[in-house]
Amino acid sequence: MDLGLQGRRAVVTGGSKGIGKAIAYELALEGVDVAICARGNTELQVTASMLRDKTTRNIFANALDVTVKGSVDEFIAKAAQEFGGLDILVNNAGSPVTGTFEEVDLDRWRQDLDVKLFAPIYCIQAALPYLKESDQPRIININSIVGRQSTPDYIANSTDRAACLGFNKVLSDNLAKYGILVNSINPGNVKSEAWDSTIEYFAPEEELEQWYKTVSKDTPLGRVAEADEIAALATFLASKRAGYITGASIDIDGGLTRYI
Ligand SMILES: NC(=O)c1ccc[n+]([C@@H]2O[C@H](COP(=O)([O-])OP(=O)(O)OC[C@H]3O[C@@H](n4cnc5c(N)ncnc54)[C@H](OP(=O)(O)O)[C@@H]3O)[C@@H](O)[C@H]2O)c1
Repeated sequence: MDLGLQGRRAVVTGGSKGIGKAIAYELALEGVDVAICARGNTELQVTASMLRDKTTRNIFANALDVTVKGSVDEFIAKAAQEFGGLDILVNNAGSPVTGTFEEVDLDRWRQDLDVKLFAPIYCIQAALPYLKESDQPRIININSIVGRQSTPDYIANSTDRAACLGFNKVLSDNLAKYGILVNSINPGNVKSEAWDSTIEYFAPEEELEQWYKTVSKDTPLGRVAEADEIAALATFLASKRAGYITGASIDIDGGLTRYI
């Protein structure tokens, strides 16, 4: 299948590790120039070097916090200048916040809303002038199944992701007139470093591999996803072959959610 991605230009937030890194790699393999960002510069530069070594594409990496609007504006403008425009924005940066209503820290909750809802808004505002110029513009929001399925141990996550899903849908309607396709990918459980913090909350005594088995017991496919399985879907949604998909919210969870 020709995905029509050769020579396209993308920004992937949170591209230093986990799902974002896998998406950046898959896009670069398909011929896309990719700009990545994360707060931690060391891991970001290691990932950027890996992407340059393993692909032939132009890779741009900038350390920043996506909740700081000025930094986002600067990063996206620099990426667009480096690549001569932008076609794809993947809003992926984020980390899980555990806790029930009575446990969750209010400041941490506000911070989560900043990262998961307002940071994508900043990125989209900054990227919009460039996306309007593209003939294959795409916005892909990495959300979570917890936005669709009440998840009591993640009340902040669950609430904030539901807002993100609402935003994804309304935005797709607003931007359709520019031909900009806006879609949400909602992963279930995916192997990544994000689990280091959640395991501390749920089962501090368990080894990570054992914990992956524990969380997979209600998943029909019986396992946790690999990050590159999420990247494959993101790459398809970025492609020209996904030209009639917008406003969609696609679960990728091994069958974990049971709603119809
Ligand atoms: N793994 C799962 O099971 C799962 C399930 C559903 C949804 N998701 C979602 O998928 C996305 C990626 O998760 P992941 O599992 O790949 O996590 P991860 O391995 O912890 O990677 C998260 C990435 O986001 C960056 N990041 C976090 N906060 C940031 C900020 N304020 N500014 C800039 N960069 C920031 C991190 O780098 P720094 O820490 O250096 O900033 C890192 O590059 C998240 O939005 C997450 O909520 C994950």
